[in-house]
Amino acid sequence: MPGIAVLGVQWGDEGKGKIAHLICQDADMAVRFNGGTNAGHTVVFPNSQIQAGRSREEKGESEFRFHLIPAGALHEGCIGVLGNGMVIEPFALAAELRMLSEQLGHAPQIWISQNAHMILPYHPIVERLEGATSELDTTAKGIGPAYRDKTARRGIRTGDLQNPEHLAALITQNLRREQAIFPDSDALRALDPVKLTKEILTATDGIQSRLTDTALLINRALDQGQPVVFEGAQGCLLDIDFGTYPYVTSSSATIGGVGVGAGVSPRRLERVIGVAKAYATRVGAGPFLTEDKSPLGERLREQGHEYGTTTGRPRRCGWLDLVALRYATRLNGLNELALTKLDVLTGLKEIPVAMAYQRGRERVEDFPTTLDELAGCEPVYERLPGWSERLNRCRSFDDLPRNAQRYVRFIEECLGTRVTVVSVGPSFSDTIWV
Ligand code: IMP
Repeated sequence: MPGIAVLGVQWGDEGKGKIAHLICQDADMAVRFNGGTNAGHTVVFPNSQIQAGRSREEKGESEFRFHLIPAGALHEGCIGVLGNGMVIEPFALAAELRMLSEQLGHAPQIWISQNAHMILPYHPIVERLEGATSELDTTAKGIGPAYRDKTARRGIRTGDLQNPEHLAALITQNLRREQAIFPDSDALRALDPVKLTKEILTATDGIQSRLTDTALLINRALDQGQPVVFEGAQGCLLDIDFGTYPYVTSSSATIGGVGVGAGVSPRRLERVIGVAKAYATRVGAGPFLTEDKSPLGERLREQGHEYGTTTGRPRRCGWLDLVALRYATRLNGLNELALTKLDVLTGLKEIPVAMAYQRGRERVEDFPTTLDELAGCEPVYERLPGWSERLNRCRSFDDLPRNAQRYVRFIEECLGTRVTVVSVGPSFSDTIWV
């Protein structure tokens, strides 16, 4: 059985959590390979699926909001793996496991890479201190500073939890370094390395036995024919290399991230599923050519509840950008697309879709990879006819109004990729398998 990647192909928040959770119904393992608590998953599913033995008649749904655990690990038979490419905030991980265990009625089964780096309390403080002079508008979770320590070869890994003395020495060294850079910071001065080490060891007491060589674990699972799903965080246009740099996150959100962040050869991936919203959103600063600042964009935000899961910030809203999606399709080698939130477009007379950009007299078909080139571009829209019917009861492609079907087929044709899943609401059941 092949590996399956589920990747965001816009600016994150495409609804990967729901899609990954759905795809993992038949998987033995769900792997996160990049990012950390900057990601936010929202998954809604019926209570009947939550606890084995609970009455099937029981109605109602539960909503899960979380940041670190792979969405697939909410299924009882699916093991969650936090890969080496992640940056893990140990207190957040412990709290998230507690919260999910209570809500699910059982503890999610997880393994954690001993080579994953940790976000420690000084990272978000440093990020905020630097933020005063930066326009990047990050989630302020310490992601950039933690990846920076990793690349500078002074990072602290989860494996260091197994050697308390070494851990204390590393924390002391790194904390002292930040305190020296920001001598006026009361927040940094208030941190004591010895106390911090003890707190981290106490908070992670229950998860230290779950540290392992996850690359070995994942490859063995694949060797045995077990279905393994790799869940991307953020999206293609936030990728550190291929996104709209520097308005990006600090990790690889594209297919290459699976290789470096999980230790799995790309040859082992047979299905690469891109997840795209039927329109577009971006949270945080940076280029967004199809952004609509008119009341129509506002309407998308309200209909689509476009507020960040992690920070609560309102998301910038706009229209589907096929130039950017072609770029993401090419970079990731997508062979499937999951289209989410199609229901949010109900009620629009026509739906603009960017087919190309115009830069002066030049028509640009390929997504420009520098900010300067992007800055001179204007989207060239084609307007597709809308529909007025609500979609939340549609359960098959044929149930969709004709113009909604056309919209989906149009995207498929433009991208040369099959749309295999259409999501028409937040719930597990609001899904059309095409
Ligand atoms: P960072 O990842 O916190 O460093 O933030 C860098 C940029 O990525 C900011 O614009 C964030 O808003 C954005 N970002 C990071 N994670 C997510 C996500 O999961 N969804 C959407 N945007 C994100």
